[in-house]
Amino acid sequence: MTKIISGTDLAKKLRAEIKEEATILQQRGITPTLAVVLVGDNKASKSYVNSKHKACLENNINSVKIELDENISTASLLNEIEKLNNDDNVHGILVQLPLPKHIDAEQILNAVSPQKDVDGFHPINVGKLVIGEAKLIPCTPLGILEMIKSTGDEIDGKLALVIGRSNIVGKPISTLLLQNNATVITAHSKTKNLDSLLEQADIIVSCVGSAHFLTGEEKVKETVTIIDVGNNYKDGKLVGDVNLENFIGKVKYISPVPGGVGPLTITMLMRNTLVATYDLIK
Ligand code: GUN
Repeated sequence: MTKIISGTDLAKKLRAEIKEEATILQQRGITPTLAVVLVGDNKASKSYVNSKHKACLENNINSVKIELDENISTASLLNEIEKLNNDDNVHGILVQLPLPKHIDAEQILNAVSPQKDVDGFHPINVGKLVIGEAKLIPCTPLGILEMIKSTGDEIDGKLALVIGRSNIVGKPISTLLLQNNATVITAHSKTKNLDSLLEQADIIVSCVGSAHFLTGEEKVKETVTIIDVGNNYKDGKLVGDVNLENFIGKVKYISPVPGGVGPLTITMLMRNTLVATYDLIK
């Protein structure tokens, strides 16, 4: 029988714990605070930022939105980041991506204080993740790991196939699975024999960004766990990388889209804000 891993239910449980921790900090006179920087009018980015802002406020984490003009220069944006780096009342900083083309995104992400980098995108935090010493780890990979762990199945010794190698998801989830003692294969557009890798995998994480990339016709293990990180639109509808319906009855665990990884990503952002807060106040 196939079990659906509900990201919505898992997020609810984890958010209750986060809210309790945030409330305890508030009672100690510390208000965990996230600053979200949004540049320009990108509709999808605005919607993501609003969801993050609302989730924080619902869970006793203060959220400050800094909305800046589309035409801001890299120098002025760097100045805004510096102000947030130096503000003791701000514990986490997130610069919503993508940034307008004229801005040097790499320079901006490198300017965020590594201690406040709740996205885990700063090269120092990326390096720490690779050597197993990171405190701030990218939110989507953290959410994926929570989903896999929620099944109760061991990760140790399992063959994990990650399809996709982005800096935001594919690479960090591959690293996290390796640290959890999986044998990890990171597949990408140049990978040969993906079908044979799919057949052998105990855990499949698809972060390709292509609607229904896994059709359900592929051969997979009956015991496999599939996590769908896709966030694609098909005929105006949000769909994942995986055609879930065609895998029902063929796999052990599978995550849906929507209601899968998405709610966990925002939950992990709040957890990272608490992690940054503890680190800064100690
Ligand atoms: N845009 C899409 N996903 C993300 C994310 O995880 N962090 C940031 N900062 N921007 C994004």
